[in-house]
Amino acid sequence: MQCFKSKYGPWALVAGASEGLGAAFAEALAKQGLNLILIARRSDKLEELTNALKNKYPIEIKYRALDLADVEPIKLYVSQLGLDIGLLVYNAAYSPIGYFENISDENLAKIVEVNIKAPLLLSKLVLTQMIEKRRGGLVLMSSLAGSQGSPKIATYAASKAFNTILAEGLWKELRKHGIDVLAACAGAISTPGYKNAQTTKDAPGTLDASKVAEKTLRALGKGPTIIPGVINNIARFFMGRIFSRKLAISIMDNNTKNLS
Ligand SMILES: NC(=O)c1ccc[n+]([C@@H]2O[C@H](COP(=O)([O-])OP(=O)(O)OC[C@H]3O[C@@H](n4cnc5c(N)ncnc54)[C@H](OP(=O)(O)O)[C@@H]3O)[C@@H](O)[C@H]2O)c1
Repeated sequence: MQCFKSKYGPWALVAGASEGLGAAFAEALAKQGLNLILIARRSDKLEELTNALKNKYPIEIKYRALDLADVEPIKLYVSQLGLDIGLLVYNAAYSPIGYFENISDENLAKIVEVNIKAPLLLSKLVLTQMIEKRRGGLVLMSSLAGSQGSPKIATYAASKAFNTILAEGLWKELRKHGIDVLAACAGAISTPGYKNAQTTKDAPGTLDASKVAEKTLRALGKGPTIIPGVINNIARFFMGRIFSRKLAISIMDNNTKNLS
């Protein structure tokens, strides 16, 4: 525990922290003794989570209701806090479901803002500090949906591919500065976001959010990517190595066509 805290503490920033996997990351980090900066849009949820974590763990928490679709006020807020941030977990994502022609230009742009621009610029902000200190960590939440074309969530999936590839490049670049970077390429996770999108029963291998958060944090420093869950690793092996690209996309299509 001391090692995790001295490497990635004293403060961790969780972007998209009010519920589901984001809240699970906050709790897993609180368990490690890290102080938290929590960002999401719903203030009431952030307050509830802050109170619950403060009752359980002897840590400090700052939270602010902000929209990651507009990253500049968040950069300002984080900079003005002036805290020593040793870890950024970028968890939030925007994933409108539907065929490309039916998604508004505004919503397509929001995918880019929340899933690409905000993780990029927040990473830059905190990594600059970390490079000076020669320690720290960055976790970008990605998805197995970003491993091949994914109909009905095509733009979201492409944005997740961006995060995986970004994390891989930064993993190599930043090792020499003592900074660990990780993309967590998750399969289905039981979160409110997932439950809202599913019309049928949970996909095989659906994982609990706290398990995903804990496995991800344990993998930090061990390589550029993690795929939490045995079934997801098997699925990835077949989709990436055994099946043709066309077949992998068709299998994905079969899974995503029921999303609404
Ligand atoms: N769930 C899955 O099955 C699954 C599978 C693969 C990958 N993933 C990845 O795992 C991560 C979490 O997924 P999830 O959808 O299940 O979400 P979640 O962790 O249940 O919730 C998303 C969190 O992000 C916040 N958020 C969303 N949009 C935001 C915005 N514009 N500004 C600020 N905060 C925002 C939400 O809070 P507010 O609503 O209060 O803002 C919430 O706290 C995502 O990166 C997703 O791509 C999930």
